[in-house]
This record gives sequence, C-alpha cells and structure tokens, in this order.
Amino acid sequence: MALERTFAIVKPDAVKDGHVGEIITAIEQSGMAIRGLKRVQLTPAICKGFYHEHVSKGFYQELEDFMTEGPVVMMCLEGDGAILKWRDLMGATNPANAEGGTLRKRFGANIGRNATHGSDKPESAAFELSYFFNAFELG
Ligand code: RTP
Ligand code: MG
Repeated sequence: MALERTFAIVKPDAVKDGHVGEIITAIEQSGMAIRGLKRVQLTPAICKGFYHEHVSKGFYQELEDFMTEGPVVMMCLEGDGAILKWRDLMGATNPANAEGGTLRKRFGANIGRNATHGSDKPESAAFELSYFFNAFELG
C-alpha cells in the first residue's frame, strides 16, 4: 500500500466535549504518524474555501455555523493507505450508521455534528493540507 498523507479535523463538538486526547490516542494506536497539528478558530470565509464543494448545498449554512462555533484541531496524518485508514477510523458520515468503536459512533451526535473530518481522496488531501498547513509545519 502506498505511503499517503491525509487531512484530519477534530470538529468543534469533539473539541468542546474534551475528546481531542482520545482521538489522538486512536490515531497513534492505528500506527499512523501525526506530521502536523494545530488548533484553529475557523471563520466563515475560511470555511467556505475549505468546503467549496459543499457551499451550494442545502446543508452548507448549518455546516458553516457548526464548524465556526468553536475551535477545531487539525492534523496531517501519514501512513500506508492513510486516507482510507483515517476514514475507516472515523466511520460513516452519519454516526447512526457508523460501525461500533469508530470515532463518529463514539463521539458524534448526528450527521451534522459528527466529531471528525477526513479527506475523501488524494486530490482532496493535497488541497486540504495545502489550504491549512505551510511546508514548515509538516515535519
Ligand atoms: P467530512 O468531509 O466532514 O469528512 O465528512 P464526509 O466526507 O463523510 O461527508 P461530506 O459529504 O463531505 O459532508 C461534509 C460534512 O457536512 C455535514 N453534512 N451535513 N445535514 C446534512 O445532511 C449533512 N450532510 C453532510 C457533515 O458534518 C459532513 O461531515
Ligand atoms: Mg467530505
């Protein structure tokens, strides 16, 4: 499997509820390496750029309100097949449909407030990592 980097967010609900440490533990136990990490308060403009694929969708305003309601913790994760590995750790978008033990099952409340984000493909990972991290922030 190819060595990949992916972009992860601990969303405002999981930060507020104090789950950053448990989520980082799950990442470390998965064998992936954390190559970048920071805590950020998103603004509406930054959120629109990040979620450009979703801006025209009906749920976008709800998503923006949620993602800007408090700080997030964002990471660059690296490992073999990291994109799929991180999405498997997160579980389905809707926590109600997520497998037991996944992060969204453990910490998500509903499809809107679902605790974590992960890039869905290599092109998204490259865009998302470059949107939020400078080269010197990724070790
Ligand atoms: P993410 O991008 O956050 O990792 O989630 P995803 O790929 O599993 O889901 P995506 O389709 O990209 O949707 C992005 C985020 O928008 C919110 N959402 N709300 N109310 C709704 O119907 C709805 N649908 C999506 C979720 O927070 C989802 O993670
Ligand atoms: Mg997505």
